[in-house]
Amino acid sequence: MTDGAKFDTWSAGQSYEHYMGRWSRMVATKFVDWLDAPSSADWLEIGCGSGALTQTILASASPLTIKATDASDDFVAHARAATSDDRVTFQTANAQELPFEDASFDVVASALVLNFVPDKIVALKEMQRVLRPGGIASFYVWDYPGGGVGFIDAFWQAAAEVDHKAADLNEGSRFPFCTEMGLADICVQAGLSPTITPLEITTRFNEFEDFWMPFTLGAGPAPGYCMSLPNDHREALKAKLKENIGGLSPIDLTARAWAIKSTVRA
Ligand SMILES: C[S@@+](CC[C@H](N)C(=O)[O-])C[C@H]1O[C@@H](n2cnc3c(N)ncnc32)[C@H](O)[C@@H]1O
Repeated sequence: MTDGAKFDTWSAGQSYEHYMGRWSRMVATKFVDWLDAPSSADWLEIGCGSGALTQTILASASPLTIKATDASDDFVAHARAATSDDRVTFQTANAQELPFEDASFDVVASALVLNFVPDKIVALKEMQRVLRPGGIASFYVWDYPGGGVGFIDAFWQAAAEVDHKAADLNEGSRFPFCTEMGLADICVQAGLSPTITPLEITTRFNEFEDFWMPFTLGAGPAPGYCMSLPNDHREALKAKLKENIGGLSPIDLTARAWAIKSTVRA
């Protein structure tokens, strides 16, 4: 495990939902629209988390079935409890070793997961293996290196000002491939012919406490780091972040994801 990865805490679905799921849900709506997948398709979702993309597929893509999977038992349990629809079943599964037969699905989709998977090429090949000929492999990840997630960027900038060692923990440093070129490159290496587009949303926080609170919930890399700090260090970070935000109210910041889709050979 790398130094940064030790703060990648994936449990407590409700806390994750408040920190990130609610924003992923907004991107998911644009993503499913852009994907324009055929209706009555069999979907596989990889890394469903609290169910943001799962529920969007159900609401907007008229799927026949969805198999929604995640490596975390906690998240699978949370998403299952939060989603009541006979078309979806939930299962624990690792993106690098999908427990499904070849050619089982029409669409594979994954939201904000690929950067956390150790071997991305293996995961992209697994996506293709389980797709039927002519099926769609798809995913989105935040544009971390482009400063694409304003609230996370603000957090790590303040964290590094308080303790320079935190600079290496910023997802922009940890996931340098999350650029248009970098993503195209790993997709091609994995045998895909990707179409890539940016998807942007505005993350709105009513005031500073609303901005700060999700970082204290412990779910996700920045909150995991935040809650690992001694109290006085955490208070110094909070004060620096507040100073940097500078009295904005509401706090409106942009978050940009890269969305990728590729049809596998018929
Ligand atoms: C940032 S969350 C995204 C959750 C959800 N898709 C969303 O958009 O809100 C990353 C998710 O990837 C899952 N994950 C991390 N590594 C994984 C792997 N190797 N295989 C499957 N899921 C994984 C985590 O458990 C977590 O639920």
